[in-house]
Amino acid sequence: MTALIIDTDPGVDDAFAIALACASPDVDLLGVTTVFGNVGLAMTTRNALRVLALYGREDVPVAAGADRPLVYPHPHRARYVHGEDGLGNRADLLPERATGVAGTDAVALMASLLESAAEPVTIVPIGPLTNIALLLAAHPAVRGKIERVVIMGGGVGIGNVTAAAEFNIWSDPEAARRVLVEEDVPTVLVPLDLTHRCTVDGAWLDRLAASGPRGRTLVELIAAYREFYSRNLGIDGSVVHDAVAMAEAISPGLLVTETYPVDVECAPGPARGTVIADRRSAIARDRSGVDGSREVAVAVDADLDAVREFLLSRLSS
Ligand code: RIB
Ligand code: CA
Repeated sequence: MTALIIDTDPGVDDAFAIALACASPDVDLLGVTTVFGNVGLAMTTRNALRVLALYGREDVPVAAGADRPLVYPHPHRARYVHGEDGLGNRADLLPERATGVAGTDAVALMASLLESAAEPVTIVPIGPLTNIALLLAAHPAVRGKIERVVIMGGGVGIGNVTAAAEFNIWSDPEAARRVLVEEDVPTVLVPLDLTHRCTVDGAWLDRLAASGPRGRTLVELIAAYREFYSRNLGIDGSVVHDAVAMAEAISPGLLVTETYPVDVECAPGPARGTVIADRRSAIARDRSGVDGSREVAVAVDADLDAVREFLLSRLSS
């Protein structure tokens, strides 16, 4: 059993990731925290509640966190990808959850869940890393209760929101740098370089739609997102970034990782939000005076069909 906390900005692919956790019998979903990102905080929070309601999960506590980055204002949302409501303009397909948000904020909820957890917990940030940076700064003692942090973010060779940066990291580079460079908790980073290779095609989506009512709802939810990616990629398909990271969180080792130090560009300008992976040898790094002590496991490869089958088998219902 894997104890999980999801920090999220739903977001169509976030919805698939939350659904994957809800649909996995080997997951103990302790809580869901929300952050600004694809759309504003009020909408990401409402969407998280809705996806949990689709799976009947009135029991999972939800708490809202940061509605803005640590330092500079959020330049823009990702409505052009996720729709005005964050769920492909089809949020109406999902029920409202009877149980609203918990009476606390995201950082306090995460700290409380970690402190009371019997075993270390996997945290799965699939939006900007603001809440995670705040958690580790305000509650350093919880580090010992974190099994690992499995992050969807970064693009080592590609960007999406800019030529060089991926949306989650770009949305709050200072927070990302704190988590990926200055903190020291076991971390897996699942970047665009891999998530783009895990694209699911029209046939995959058709199988999901035919699997049952929840699968059909997810496919209806992804329609506009599928249209964006089909135009963007030139194929009939979608890139379910967050679900790929969630799959690794649930099934450690599903993705192949390489471990190296990373850094995050925080200076204003065209490279802001870029993740720089230092692939040099330890000797070369040492000779250049780099303190390569903090390393991150970067997901670089996978049996792509196995990932797609893992997602489909779990989400089919
Ligand atoms: O760049 C992809 C990431 O940004 C995903 O988490 C997506 O939901 C958006 O938040
Ligand atoms: Ca997301």
